[in-house]
Amino acid sequence: MKKVTVIISAKGGSGGSFLTAGLGIALAGRKKSVLVIDCVSGMRSIDFMLGVSDRLVFDVGDALAQNCHTENAVYQSDLADGLYVMPAPQENTGVSPDVFRDMLETLNYDYILLDCHAGDLAYGLSSHFQTVINAEATPLSVRCGNRVLLECKKNRCRDIRLVINRFSEKEFFGNDFFDDLDAVIDQVGARLLGIVPEDSELSLAFQKSQPVKNKSKAIFALDRIAARLDGMDIPLF
Ligand SMILES: Nc1ncnc2c1ncn2[C@@H]1O[C@H](COP(=O)(O)OP(=O)(O)OP(=O)(O)O)[C@@H](O)[C@H]1O
Ligand SMILES: [Mg+2]
Repeated sequence: MKKVTVIISAKGGSGGSFLTAGLGIALAGRKKSVLVIDCVSGMRSIDFMLGVSDRLVFDVGDALAQNCHTENAVYQSDLADGLYVMPAPQENTGVSPDVFRDMLETLNYDYILLDCHAGDLAYGLSSHFQTVINAEATPLSVRCGNRVLLECKKNRCRDIRLVINRFSEKEFFGNDFFDDLDAVIDQVGARLLGIVPEDSELSLAFQKSQPVKNKSKAIFALDRIAARLDGMDIPLF
């Protein structure tokens, strides 16, 4: 049975696409078929991060408008077996969550991950699917994370989790914005699914559309989050 997860970046640049791409690779590493759909019309990035950008013909907009067969807008990533990408349109086009959901029904993968910005599409989808809010442990990102949470709740979303991304212990305790991580989790208001450390090597790999050679702390963290999404009873740390 396919499982759909909506990943909403609380604030621009907080690592929502990084998390989505990283989780896609981690879930595929668990021998699952995974489709990552880029829902950021006009500002796509997943195709580049997962190394399919040089062969794109159709995108999710074409699939929704029935300009092509849905599967023709799906590209296999070379970064992992079983990992597929549906790119966002280059033009910013509004999409109805209902139309989008109907398309999801027709797709056959173990996991579908949706890289979303906060907005109507994300909130419309969050009422039907598990939702992960991606935020950094900074005051502004936490405030945006809480705004996203309230909007998701307004849309009656019941399964909302938090991933704290780009985490650096040194910066967190050095900046002294929060007493501890519990304060971050409380202020966003969602249950914690995992923490992904700052990892410049993985960031660089995504910017080069390349796989990483060594397993870093961030990759281990993404593997643990993927295992939890995949139903394993794995402690947070
Ligand atoms: N855990 C991390 N460690 C190091 N760099 C990271 C991490 N997460 C994200 N980044 C980097 O931060 C930048 C912004 O990340 P990303 O594009 O994923 O954010 P976003 O929330 O999707 O932003 P946007 O609002 O543009 O969609 C990128 O250069 C990315 O590689
Ligand atoms: Mg993004």
